[in-house]
Amino acid sequence: MLPTLLILVGAWGALQADLLSDRKVLLLPPANFTIKATGLAQVLLHWEPNPDQEHRNVDLQYHVKINVPQEDEYNTRKTDSKYVAPLHNGFAASVRSIVWRSNSFLASSWVSAELKASPGSSGTSVINLTCTTNTVLSSHTHLRPYQVSLRCTWLVGKDAPEDTQYFLYYRFGVWTEECQEYSRDTLNRNVACWFPRTFINSKGFDQLAVHVNGSSKHAAIKSFDQLFTPHAIDQVNPPMNVTVEIEETSLYIQWEKPVSAFPVHCFNYELKIYNTKNGYFQVEKLATNKFMSKIDDVSTYSIQVRAVVSSSCRVSGSWGEWSEPIYVGKEKKPLAEWHFIVFPATACFVLLIFSFICRVCHIWIRLFPPVPAPKSNIKDLLVVTDYEKVAWNETKIEVVSCVEETGFEVMENSVF
Ligand SMILES: *[C@@H]1O[C@H](CO)[C@@H](O)[C@H](O)[C@H]1NC(C)=O
Ligand SMILES: *[C@@H]1O[C@H](CO)[C@@H](O)[C@H](O)[C@H]1NC(C)=O
Ligand SMILES: *[C@@H]1O[C@H](CO)[C@@H](O)[C@H](O)[C@H]1NC(C)=O
Ligand SMILES: *[C@@H]1O[C@H](CO)[C@@H](O)[C@H](O)[C@H]1NC(C)=O
Repeated sequence: MLPTLLILVGAWGALQADLLSDRKVLLLPPANFTIKATGLAQVLLHWEPNPDQEHRNVDLQYHVKINVPQEDEYNTRKTDSKYVAPLHNGFAASVRSIVWRSNSFLASSWVSAELKASPGSSGTSVINLTCTTNTVLSSHTHLRPYQVSLRCTWLVGKDAPEDTQYFLYYRFGVWTEECQEYSRDTLNRNVACWFPRTFINSKGFDQLAVHVNGSSKHAAIKSFDQLFTPHAIDQVNPPMNVTVEIEETSLYIQWEKPVSAFPVHCFNYELKIYNTKNGYFQVEKLATNKFMSKIDDVSTYSIQVRAVVSSSCRVSGSWGEWSEPIYVGKEKKPLAEWHFIVFPATACFVLLIFSFICRVCHIWIRLFPPVPAPKSNIKDLLVVTDYEKVAWNETKIEVVSCVEETGFEVMENSVF
């Protein structure tokens, strides 16, 4: 019991001595603290160790606290610090010197600095800024096989005068570019921008900074900054070369990875097989680029595939676009039904027409009786006879005409 107490008392004494010695070390705040904008949505905080600081050999650190635009804090041993944040509402930070002593630390007073907010009322800046990136095959394949395009759209601020014009810039790492291809609204104001190729690396971890400022004769236009995470705004292309083959009751589907800087093993796929007969969707999540399915061979199917970069290669984003639907299969059933209706209908119609034609023919025959071949012979005979028996000729011919329909033999009999 006594030794424990002695140890405790001893420890207390040592702590007191330590604190007393600390008190002699008067920590002075850093000197010449400055904040400088070094790029779009990027600042450099810089300070110097205080030249009047005693005990220069202590392990001096700096505690940095960001107050605007968002609270944040961190410690560093360096005397400068890069920070990425939207700057349109200004930037304010404080820094102090600190020295760690076991579980506690000694700290100097704070020094602060700030960057002014961009001029103009907040209603003049753009709103609803959205950006998406897309990977396209490069035309200069020998330099870089893929390039990333960027598209941004926004809405005009509600307080922006009609003559306002907006300008968009992006920064990725050390590269900054101004938009060259704008789309405009009816008042000729830029409301969208398209960069066919950029310095954005879809595999990179840097944030994409987008800055939109503007000008007007009537008011100061407040600028607007927004940071985007590349994987979150990347629109993955649809898988390439989707092929579908049917062998009896099996459906074989294959595709290739989308146009992307990521290699084959980085993709997961979603396959959608839609049965047009019963409206049933079969959805499969796959890590391979092949699939086989048993099917009903009297239906048509529409097949689509989409891709996502898997979490093994980057922070997973969202699903890409669906590939164009491919239709396969045969529609036997509907065709049979069609025949059930069409065949009897056609048959009836043909019969109807046929009987009608028969009736018409019948009448036609009555009106213009066809002259049977043997008749001419009879006529010739008659003519011959007429020449011989001129006196009773006329009555005889009349008789022939009347009985003609009943048949040649009757005629023959009546004539002779
Ligand atoms: C702080 O800035 C002043 C003026 O720019 C300069 O004279 C001084 O040397 C700087 N102090 C330190 C510690 O760098
Ligand atoms: C703009 O964004 C706001 C808030 O995010 C939303 O409420 C509004 O519907 C959007 N406007 C349009 C036209 O998309
Ligand atoms: C907009 O920002 C760019 C980049 O910072 C700058 O070069 C340009 O002068 C600004 N334009 C206006 C109208 O403020
Ligand atoms: C897709 O098919 C075409 C023609 O069959 C071929 O030239 C192309 O290389 C294929 N795409 C890929 C990514 O293999």
